[in-house]
Amino acid sequence: MEEQQTSSEVITLLSSRELEKMRKACQMAAQLLDYLTPYVKPGISTLELNDLAEDWTKKRGAVSAPLGYEGTVMPFPKSICTSVNEVICHGIPRAEEILRDGDIINIDVTPIVDGYHGDTSRTFLVGNVASRTRKLVEVTEECMWRGIREVKPGARIGDIGAAIQEYAEAEGFSVVRDFVGHGVHRIFHTAPQVPHYGVRGKGKKLRPGMVFTIEPMINLGSHEAEILTDGWTALTVDRQLSAQFEHTVAVTKTGVEVLTLSPAKVLA
Ligand code: MF3
Ligand code: CO
Ligand code: CO
Repeated sequence: MEEQQTSSEVITLLSSRELEKMRKACQMAAQLLDYLTPYVKPGISTLELNDLAEDWTKKRGAVSAPLGYEGTVMPFPKSICTSVNEVICHGIPRAEEILRDGDIINIDVTPIVDGYHGDTSRTFLVGNVASRTRKLVEVTEECMWRGIREVKPGARIGDIGAAIQEYAEAEGFSVVRDFVGHGVHRIFHTAPQVPHYGVRGKGKKLRPGMVFTIEPMINLGSHEAEILTDGWTALTVDRQLSAQFEHTVAVTKTGVEVLTLSPAKVLA
């Protein structure tokens, strides 16, 4: 996700040829998460997950966008983001970080295929997870879907955030403000910014051909985030849990196409 800042850049509308390239990249991203899923078990390190992802991506002739992505302190040093428990986003895979029973982990992948980025993430349960934690993860996924369901020509960016915020807060959770969804195509992070909170009827109007992510980060406690001195790892100020799900979507003539839908899930 993109750090929140004010901007009023022009939003690119993709041609059908460009959309076809986005489909390819986004399908690879979904398949990569499907590939990693059975490995997400107690005992594996986040670095091992990274290395599995990097090998899988390379073997398919794609490039991991996070690796070397420019940041304020240093470029991102690994190929995927692995955000465990109180880490909101942009967790850096490490050999010493071993998943334990009861953890939650968000894995966020972005392969580049033929110049286009496919950006998606899911939060996984590691072994047996406490019921309140499972609830947070379920509500976060539903938040993403409620945001996606708002997408159609003529709707506003604010409709997406409002739908997410209403549901998250009604369930007693909070919406992270400091990171937002983003336009994505040849450029990893571009206009529009897509806040996961907001007011219906406000913000830019959606038009066919726009492509962006919806990637709510939902916290068990306060919405406040802080960033470690590595310049990347974002965690909750109160050290309570945070979950996230992300899809890349395209505005169509009639509604929305979820580009990063898993082929496995479509068939299931
Ligand atoms: N994939 C993340 C997003 O959803 C961005 C990761 S940038 C990185 O926007 F450099 F941390 F990988
Ligand atoms: Co994103
Ligand atoms: Co992402």
